[in-house]
Amino acid sequence: MLQFAYISSYLLVALSGQLAFAPPATAAILQPRYGTFVTHERRSAHPEWQDTRRLDPDVIIPLRIGLKQQNLDALPAHLMAISDPESPSYGAHWSPARVAEVFAPASDTHDLVREWLAGAGFGAEKIRVSRNKAWIDVLGATTVEVERLLDTEYRVFKHVDGAEHVACHEYALPEAIAGHVDFVLPTIQPNAKLVKTSHRRRSPRSIPSAQLLQSRTNAPAAAAANNSAGIGGSASLAGCDTAVVPSCLKALYNMTYTPNATDRNTFGIASFFSNTYSQSDLDTFFGNFSPSLVGSSPILVSIDGGEAAINPSSSVGEDDWIFEYAMTLVAPQPVQFLSVGNQQNGPFFSFNEWLDAVDGSYCTSDGGDDFTFDPQLPNPLPGGFNDHSCGTVKAPNVVSSSQAVDEHAYSDFYRQRQCNEFGKLGLMGVTVLYAAGNTGTSGTNSGLSGTTSGYCLDENGSINLNATNFNPSWPASCPWITAVGGTQVKPNATLGHSPEEVWNQDFTMGFFESGGGGFSNHFPTPDYQKMAIAKYLKFLEKNDPAKLKSFNTKGRAYPDLSANANSFFNIGNGGVSIDSGTSGATPTVAAIITLVNDARISAGKKPVGFINPTIYSTAFATAFNDITDGSNQGCKGLQGVRDGGFPATAGWDPASGVGTPNLGRLIEKWLALP
Ligand SMILES: *[C@@H]1O[C@H](CO)[C@@H](O)[C@H](O)[C@H]1NC(C)=O
Ligand SMILES: *[C@@H]1O[C@H](CO)[C@@H](O)[C@H](O)[C@H]1NC(C)=O
Ligand SMILES: *[C@@H]1O[C@H](CO)[C@@H](O)[C@H](O)[C@H]1NC(C)=O
Ligand SMILES: *[C@@H]1O[C@H](CO)[C@@H](O)[C@H](O)[C@H]1NC(C)=O
Ligand SMILES: *[C@@H]1O[C@H](CO)[C@@H](O)[C@H](O)[C@H]1NC(C)=O
Ligand SMILES: *[C@@H]1O[C@H](CO)[C@@H](O)[C@H](O)[C@H]1NC(C)=O
Repeated sequence: MLQFAYISSYLLVALSGQLAFAPPATAAILQPRYGTFVTHERRSAHPEWQDTRRLDPDVIIPLRIGLKQQNLDALPAHLMAISDPESPSYGAHWSPARVAEVFAPASDTHDLVREWLAGAGFGAEKIRVSRNKAWIDVLGATTVEVERLLDTEYRVFKHVDGAEHVACHEYALPEAIAGHVDFVLPTIQPNAKLVKTSHRRRSPRSIPSAQLLQSRTNAPAAAAANNSAGIGGSASLAGCDTAVVPSCLKALYNMTYTPNATDRNTFGIASFFSNTYSQSDLDTFFGNFSPSLVGSSPILVSIDGGEAAINPSSSVGEDDWIFEYAMTLVAPQPVQFLSVGNQQNGPFFSFNEWLDAVDGSYCTSDGGDDFTFDPQLPNPLPGGFNDHSCGTVKAPNVVSSSQAVDEHAYSDFYRQRQCNEFGKLGLMGVTVLYAAGNTGTSGTNSGLSGTTSGYCLDENGSINLNATNFNPSWPASCPWITAVGGTQVKPNATLGHSPEEVWNQDFTMGFFESGGGGFSNHFPTPDYQKMAIAKYLKFLEKNDPAKLKSFNTKGRAYPDLSANANSFFNIGNGGVSIDSGTSGATPTVAAIITLVNDARISAGKKPVGFINPTIYSTAFATAFNDITDGSNQGCKGLQGVRDGGFPATAGWDPASGVGTPNLGRLIEKWLALP
């Protein structure tokens, strides 16, 4: 698990060196014609940031104003029009240029904000406008000028680690301007602390080689490995309850299809420093499970300086085994390694980096990246990436990301902007899959480490040991991505007899892991899942009505579907280990969607794009294995004693989604769509 505060260097960089040369303040004049000030954004107190003093009045503020994009309210309808299987325009994906054009800020928004700035003393010579007109930079504005413009006061905040940042407690905009501006930088942001978590367990139950060899010799895992699943009726799940190998997944998910449109199909795995793979681990794994792949590597797609660094002396992260599985499941389809580089001086990553890379318009739309959460690029620090990957990468048809964070860790604006972008990728025909997390209904931290593992939210929306409101994960709670939950193979399971149940593993000392599931506190239920949710809420009303108080019954719910998350046999750092997590379920589902895309591309059709409206449709119900057994975990509570999470039931549920995929049937159904 990685957990760190994200500290932007932007302000410090901008402030140093300019202090001495700042011109004296000039009066910015309030213009009554734009109406009275209304508060635009307000920061909440954060224990790690101490307000120390007022900022000197003549410091230059690097002011950036993010303009509101137009037509965003129509995004859901546009997305449904091309991804609802009943829609006449199903599959008519948009070009990136059309996406950029339809959502660009209206020109009157741009004109009005410029006019307001000019009236306040910031004429054309002090203004820089981004290429797509989505944001406006104001040059040379002093603290006192910006304070008047935004009816605010800039303060210097000191972080517990000693860094000083500038922020204000709140700021305002005139009534007539507020509706045209999404946000202004720098204002309230530097107070925010982001807890980002990769919810992998690093070889948590590493098995010493000798022991494993023995288990492979006598046992079920080897027999399972030897299965040519799905062929000639010889598929079996023998050993899959102990250690999952590729043939287990092929048997569970009816994967007999061999791709043949590999030159026209694409599949990428978003990866963040310091996750990488080791070729020798891959080759050892391939040698056992997919000999034709020995010597094959993922295709490096470098983002913001990302490398395919394979330093045998350093520990590889979970992407090592993610590639072992993803490449094996889709062979001979190549898999892209969307490798996001190391920014600043720590293992910082942000989902916006790969989004910027695949959609250049996102780099600047709605004010662009937010340096509270995203690395500043180009990176001014020594050794930093001196560029910014904006639109440098063609989005693959399917992108799989095994990272997840807590929904509450981001600001409303940040979440909304990122979620809109996922919707835009859907419009472009890209399937985006994210892991639903490994701690049931309580956030995304691994159950094995981290002080806030398994915590829920209190009434204020803060994580708290005694809190009882479920803590949804991000971006699983965005309705425009597909969130993947976890299952496990039941003991002695056999094919055809409901072999899977909800992933839920209890370890010693109160540690646990289980498939993420829940309801957003910020995004409403999208139409495509309204019926599914209504049915589940009725089930809860009847069986466990008290639980209805623990979450937002009107929220977007996840996961959308699931796959095995338990006990992946893999080769990591030269040894063998067993790893679990929705980190493994996500690339498995991504591989399956990639194979569906292959079948569609072979048949002259488009890739499937945003799949949620389709997988919730009645026609597709028989293409999933409905998971009806088990439940995920709830809040941790005192001494690790947990209340329950969500039980699985017939149909969709917030523990297993619509179920696990049946590739053969999915291909049949998706080939029947235009
Ligand atoms: C694997 O399959 C081969 C060929 O069918 C067979 O000779 C061998 O005994 C099998 N190994 C195991 C562990 O089942
Ligand atoms: C959160 O709410 C509780 C009462 O519901 C209150 O005691 C506590 O001080 C609040 N915490 C913060 C950080 O506002
Ligand atoms: C949780 O509740 C217990 C018992 O009421 C109390 O001792 C403890 O301080 C509380 N912990 C937190 C983090 O609020
Ligand atoms: C699984 O099978 C083994 C061997 O046949 C048996 O000992 C064990 O009790 C079974 N476990 C379950 C949960 O049925
Ligand atoms: C790929 O396989 C499908 C059937 O599985 C076939 O219809 C199609 O023609 C093949 N395409 C190519 C390019 O070989
Ligand atoms: C697996 O997929 C094939 C089509 O490829 C289908 O005919 C078969 O019924 C499926 N098997 C199961 C168990 O659903």
